[in-house]
Amino acid sequence: MKSPEALILTKKRYLTDDLEKDSEMSINSQLKIAIDGPAGSGKSTVAREVAARLNIAYIDTGAMYRAITLKLLRRRCDPVDHGRVEELLKQTVLEVLPGGRVIMDGEDVTAAIRAPEVNAAVSRVAELPAVRRKMVQQQQEIAAASAGIVMEGRDIASTVMPQAPHKFYLDASLPVRAQRRSQEQQDKGLPLSYENTFHEIKERDRIDSERSHSPLAITPGTAVIDTTSLTIEEVVQLILQRVNRQKD
Ligand code: CDP
Repeated sequence: MKSPEALILTKKRYLTDDLEKDSEMSINSQLKIAIDGPAGSGKSTVAREVAARLNIAYIDTGAMYRAITLKLLRRRCDPVDHGRVEELLKQTVLEVLPGGRVIMDGEDVTAAIRAPEVNAAVSRVAELPAVRRKMVQQQQEIAAASAGIVMEGRDIASTVMPQAPHKFYLDASLPVRAQRRSQEQQDKGLPLSYENTFHEIKERDRIDSERSHSPLAITPGTAVIDTTSLTIEEVVQLILQRVNRQKD
């Protein structure tokens, strides 16, 4: 079977020189790809890789919820204090760069948002309607301004880009997700045990799926990929193949 890259190249070869630029733009404008799934399902790595192969932007929306959580933690703001949360939200300027860096109020917080304290608090912050409103609005602006984009999170297919022609939901068993995540943390020098990671992501799964505003769920028209026994490359190939089939 031809690789997805080969299919893209074949398609480009049919375009005349004059039309090539416009036609490529219209092909790319179809490339709105939504990837949702729980922690440790592989969605960040896969989404980044798919975006790189298709030469389009990649946005990690979880990083935005993590950044605002970091701010609330630093300001010792309790998420139940809705008035203060709204005030802090208004004062916050968040930039998510296509390469994955996150800038909050001019500070690069890319590493800080992965701290265990943020992991533990983020789902409680992400369920607040005011937080979701601001994040979703900014994400929709980014999506609208992009010719092609892979956006990953929890509510991309349901809420942020419901019109996206390509929607995926990545999943894996909880033990495998916890194993992957604790390995990742250890590789970064953050010695979090498997048990702690297991309980942390299990609790986040619960809060993310049970919240009343845009919960983590599989929306109709979404392709579900169980990554439990697949490599990153196999998942990337499954997505690229489906995207190419849908484009034809
Ligand atoms: O990387 P990991 O899967 O651990 O999580 P993340 O994508 O960084 O997201 C962190 C948290 O942000 C999630 O557990 C959700 O509570 C929240 N989130 C959300 O509510 N909606 C999104 N689109 C993305 C993340």
